[in-house]
Amino acid sequence: MCGIVGYIGNKNSVPILIEGLKRLEYRGYDSAGIGVINGKIGSFVKSKGKVSVLEEKSAADGIEAKIGIGHTRWATHGEPNEINAHPHFNEEKSLFLIHNGIIENYNVLKTGLKKLGYKFLSETDSEVLVHLIDSYMKKDHGLFQAVRLSLNQVEGTYGIAVISTKEPNKIIVAKKGSPLVIGIGDDENFIASDVNALIAHTSQVVYMEDDEIAEINADSFRAKSIHDKDIEKEIHDVEMNLDEITKGGYPHFMLKEIMEQPEAVRNSLRGRLLLDEGIARLGGLQGFADRLANSKRIIITACGTSWHAALVGEYMLEQFAGIPVEVEYASEFRYRNPIINKDDALLFISQSGETADTLAALKEAKRRGALVLGICNAVGSSIARESHAGVYTHAGPEIGVASTKAFTTQLSVLALITLLIARKKHVSIVDGKEIIKEMQQIPEKIEKILQMNDEIEKIAENFVDSTNFLYLGRGYNFPVALEGALKLKEISYIHAEGYPAAEMKHGPIALIDENMPVVFIAPTDSVYDKVISNIEEVKARKGIIIGIASENDNKIDSLVDYSIKIPDTIRMLMPILTVIPLQLLAYHVAVKKGLNVDQPRNLAKSVTVE
Ligand code: M6R
Repeated sequence: MCGIVGYIGNKNSVPILIEGLKRLEYRGYDSAGIGVINGKIGSFVKSKGKVSVLEEKSAADGIEAKIGIGHTRWATHGEPNEINAHPHFNEEKSLFLIHNGIIENYNVLKTGLKKLGYKFLSETDSEVLVHLIDSYMKKDHGLFQAVRLSLNQVEGTYGIAVISTKEPNKIIVAKKGSPLVIGIGDDENFIASDVNALIAHTSQVVYMEDDEIAEINADSFRAKSIHDKDIEKEIHDVEMNLDEITKGGYPHFMLKEIMEQPEAVRNSLRGRLLLDEGIARLGGLQGFADRLANSKRIIITACGTSWHAALVGEYMLEQFAGIPVEVEYASEFRYRNPIINKDDALLFISQSGETADTLAALKEAKRRGALVLGICNAVGSSIARESHAGVYTHAGPEIGVASTKAFTTQLSVLALITLLIARKKHVSIVDGKEIIKEMQQIPEKIEKILQMNDEIEKIAENFVDSTNFLYLGRGYNFPVALEGALKLKEISYIHAEGYPAAEMKHGPIALIDENMPVVFIAPTDSVYDKVISNIEEVKARKGIIIGIASENDNKIDSLVDYSIKIPDTIRMLMPILTVIPLQLLAYHVAVKKGLNVDQPRNLAKSVTVE
């Protein structure tokens, strides 16, 4: 989704802004722009398409300035073109604004501003804000006050940055519902919608909260609430290094992140498994674990891949903790009238911690007095901060739009939470120890599967021209079928559907002919024989079968066209292994189709608008 960067200091801001925007490219965007102030002169450059085009244009224009703001736009209101790209500006081109989010009452505001004589160039909701601020400045308000008063008139969500030639030594930023971080440097300061864009310059950050506004100068900053109360902000240290957000020799972030999974899962588990006691230790849930274990129902809410992880969590928690679990799409949950009882616990899963629907669902549950717990990857993200307590997955930055290591680490954390609760309830120390021993072996088993990369790449060659795919699995592997299908469709644009294997007979079987590839997730577990029967049914109709099977399974080979054999583990952990070949399959099909794997069309890494 849209990205924001900004710089104020003694260096030329333009290369810093361009570099920051490049670091935000992974979020998904369709146009970009920068606005800068040099003394009393303001200028801007915008372009449709990639940041590299913007870079060439700004080099050709030769602009240089010590204060600037930059933006990548993911179109919501108005098509992707230069006019709709940010920054937006006032008639005199003395005021420049970039905005993430949606101004819901923009039509009302626009009508009022038009009556005052304001002319609009773009089709965006964002442009009303720059004219609104301008109207307050014309009434002799300073920039900070003009922004603050304007925001009091706005309904909707925003992360904004504003600069003006009238007050050329400051950037004003404000946040509501869209992330915004200030980076603190030495006689220079930065802003960004995502710490990834800052860490090349500083590890000291200040997280803006909703309804806060700040003035940033080269050597200081001050914050207030938009209702004019002074606020003391804390400076945090971010533990992230540049290597984590570069491709490190891989052709794509997605492949790098798939390959990082052994280490990512190790990091998720590190220090959290107490073998002697057969239990998990989760510092982030301290003070809340008993409440969670005693809850009468757990509702897990998420979107996309995180929602698939939640479904696996449902199987885990119901099997081992004996607590009924419901899994909800955040977007549905927030707009229903969900029944939340006092004994319920709500768990919100989000890689980015910024997904608008998940965040809104969390706030609604919190407003109703529920216990809200988060499972997030991005440290300091909105969901992590809004939750009463939670667990970080420690996967490290995930840049590829298609979630890979986020999923396997979410499953690892769900397994840890399950173990923690299960041991507080009826699971014995002996069984707890068995689970831990299996968990400890998972990273090595992932490594083993990753060694099959070349083999999976060869299988992928056969499916470059496929137009449909079916993914089937049962029990714990049904959510993996959904996840495999999502991976393929989002990066290769091949239509794919995931189903519980037995549901095939109730409809999808009609689709099967000699052109339909069907991926079966069929490890040797308690439902293996049933899945084999489903494989037979597909074979009888000449479907092309890819089987993800256990390494000691020799029976399946005669039934499938391609088999990928993987190590076994206990059922609850199997999805962490079975998903890996599906990630690689999707990756190689997309690469062979020549597609942009890391930034698939129309998609954004973090969906920060509804
Ligand atoms: O950051 P989140 O985990 O909240 O994101 C949720 C979904 O947008 C995300 O999982 C999406 O489905 C992935 N791109 C799929 O690979």
